[in-house]
Amino acid sequence: MRRPFCKAVATATVGACLVVGSTTPLLAQRKTLEQKVDSVLQLMTLEEKAGQLNQYTGDAVTGPAVNDPTKLEQIRSGRVGSMLNIRGAQRTRELQAEALKSRLKIPLLFGLDVIHGYQTTFPIPLGEAASWDMTAIRQSAHIAAVEAAAAGQHWTFAPMVDIARDPRWGRVMEGAGEDPYLGSQIARARVLGFQGEKIGATDAVLACAKHFAGYGAAQAGRDYHTVDLSRRLLWEVYLPPFKAALDAGAATFMNAFNELDGIPSTGNRYLQRDILKGQWKFQGFVVSDWGSIGEMVNHGFAKDNADAGRLALLAGSDMDMESRSYVNSLPALVKSGQVPEELVNDAVRRILRKKFELGLFQNPNRFSDVAREKKLVGAPEHRQIARDVARKSIVLLKNEGNVLPLDKKTKRIALIGPLGSSKLNHAGFWAVNYDSTGYVSVLEGLQNKFGKQANIQYARGCGIKGESQAGFAEAVKTAQDADVVVMAVGEAYDMSGEAKSRTDIGLPGQQEALIKAVVATGKPVVVLMMAGRPLTFNWTAEHAPAILYTWWLGSEAGNAIADVLTGDYNPAGKLPMTFPRSLGQVPIFYAAKNTGRPSSGDKDVLYKSAYIDQTNRPQYAFGHGLSYTKFTYGNLKLSTTQLGAGQSLTVSCTLTNAGKTAGEEVVQLYLRDLVASVTRPIMELKDFQKVQLKPGETKTLTFTITSDKLSFYNQDMQWTTEPGEFRLMLGSASDDIRLDSKFELLK
Ligand code: GLC
Repeated sequence: MRRPFCKAVATATVGACLVVGSTTPLLAQRKTLEQKVDSVLQLMTLEEKAGQLNQYTGDAVTGPAVNDPTKLEQIRSGRVGSMLNIRGAQRTRELQAEALKSRLKIPLLFGLDVIHGYQTTFPIPLGEAASWDMTAIRQSAHIAAVEAAAAGQHWTFAPMVDIARDPRWGRVMEGAGEDPYLGSQIARARVLGFQGEKIGATDAVLACAKHFAGYGAAQAGRDYHTVDLSRRLLWEVYLPPFKAALDAGAATFMNAFNELDGIPSTGNRYLQRDILKGQWKFQGFVVSDWGSIGEMVNHGFAKDNADAGRLALLAGSDMDMESRSYVNSLPALVKSGQVPEELVNDAVRRILRKKFELGLFQNPNRFSDVAREKKLVGAPEHRQIARDVARKSIVLLKNEGNVLPLDKKTKRIALIGPLGSSKLNHAGFWAVNYDSTGYVSVLEGLQNKFGKQANIQYARGCGIKGESQAGFAEAVKTAQDADVVVMAVGEAYDMSGEAKSRTDIGLPGQQEALIKAVVATGKPVVVLMMAGRPLTFNWTAEHAPAILYTWWLGSEAGNAIADVLTGDYNPAGKLPMTFPRSLGQVPIFYAAKNTGRPSSGDKDVLYKSAYIDQTNRPQYAFGHGLSYTKFTYGNLKLSTTQLGAGQSLTVSCTLTNAGKTAGEEVVQLYLRDLVASVTRPIMELKDFQKVQLKPGETKTLTFTITSDKLSFYNQDMQWTTEPGEFRLMLGSASDDIRLDSKFELLK
């Protein structure tokens, strides 16, 4: 048996040994992390090991709550390894002190859903994804980590990297949209933002790639519903962002509520052991989702909570969030030989490793610093960054007659709609430690921007929900008395999010009727659409001259929106998800297959893959987003049109700002493999560049197409390339291709 790395007697308390041990000669030598972990592990009883794998919620609940008055006692007796939903330096210190009363004094790990900001609230992740700005996204995650770490958090349950192609599913708001390439870039940016350069810094937290895997493909867009994916779709679309998160160093993964191919993700050995810990060699740990171990009984996959614990542990789920399966049943399961102790040891090691890397054994309270919390949480400089990220997330969907940008000398502005004065709704579903009273509403943003020289009148018009039109008359009158109308409509913050699936993704209540009534006044109308998902609003899309999709933008929503409305910031956002015209088209996404009977257009429907009552076209395509200026593309050049196997292709083009306003363009590069042994999508995003150009400026952009970008899973599920012709497209959106060419991949 390996000697403990410090002179501890068998019953010594690990905490004391580790804290004091730094003075003993033995510890003076640099001991490997593994030796430290093993030295703790070998002191642990089976019950203490099961305790390390046990996680309870604290003061708040983010799932079906279990009333358990014994939690504190369990913490003191070493039966809890982690707590979630405990906020604040002081509160985490208090609970840590309880854990240090346990025999081995193993510190608790504190986790929290810091999804898009801790106190300073950033745009919801789907909104941030619309920025296509990896620097901004990384910075947003970093600020969230700075604030959360200062408030005692060690670990965030983010980024959520589930690809989502069904806007009925409320959790689309939490991810990066429909595309695996964009989703992978964003997963990487978020992990690096949360974890910083090195785990253990007190301005960083452990990241958690979730929900592993396929959760976004829930049937009928109904949360927690069955997921049935082909292996090909799993590997081609749903796994890449997880692999990107892992390659970026994600310290933890969270599994998922859904079954996949008949097996609940939490008990899915193929996902957790074969892929994640096997093929991908993941060294971190997997936490279950809230109660997902115990829910395998509901799935009809486990006969009781103990059996669920057995199946989950065998399948590679390391930590049990709120099921109590592990803490209550693992010791007996090991003693009866149903679960090898070595697998329990492996799970414990994975968790202890992170606690050592975070420095918690040396100083259990190093993240819980009241002074640092006071200084950093909600710091003014964070608000400025939040405003910048928010501006970058806004998508200009339409701007007919250049209604936008508004003249700053506009005298009479009407703000109409139920979200005009709202603050709370800009929090989105997953804001965690926010204080929305400090948010900037759209009304305040306009007042800040236009100052006293403008007369800004607000009329609510109607509710977000509800059928009343009682406020219409006042709204119409307000519009008639104004030079320009800004409308603030959309979803309430809790209409998208977890367990917030909708069967109707139209503008709720009487909001579109209100838009109609206001547009009928003939005034120039700008519609601000706020939501956590793509909504359908065909009449508005048709008749409102200008539309900005502003998602939920967080603390600085009103100021960011005012920056864009007045052109102080030229919008550059691009949609990360397709916007359907009707729910009947869903799932609808750009990277679709051609089928054997492709329709060539709206009239070509007879014996074609089309609808007789609706076009195939979306309302707004993936990658769509306008600017206050105009960009022209030219001079497409390929380093060769005959690409040798394994070689890279260099592609260049020029981009010109042909307008009068500086602006940014996201140049998107799509490929299509025209013929292959497996049908391939009509186009796939393979690269993009976000470019800032002054008026009249031209830049030459260069892209490199490596063979990985030409690869796919063949009929034997081997990742490979096949010789043949490829179409290369460069454009401003998936339905706005500006440059087009072909090249051949040779044998
Ligand atoms: C929730 C969510 C998960 C979250 C966890 C803890 O049910 O599914 O994303 O991190 O529970 O709040």
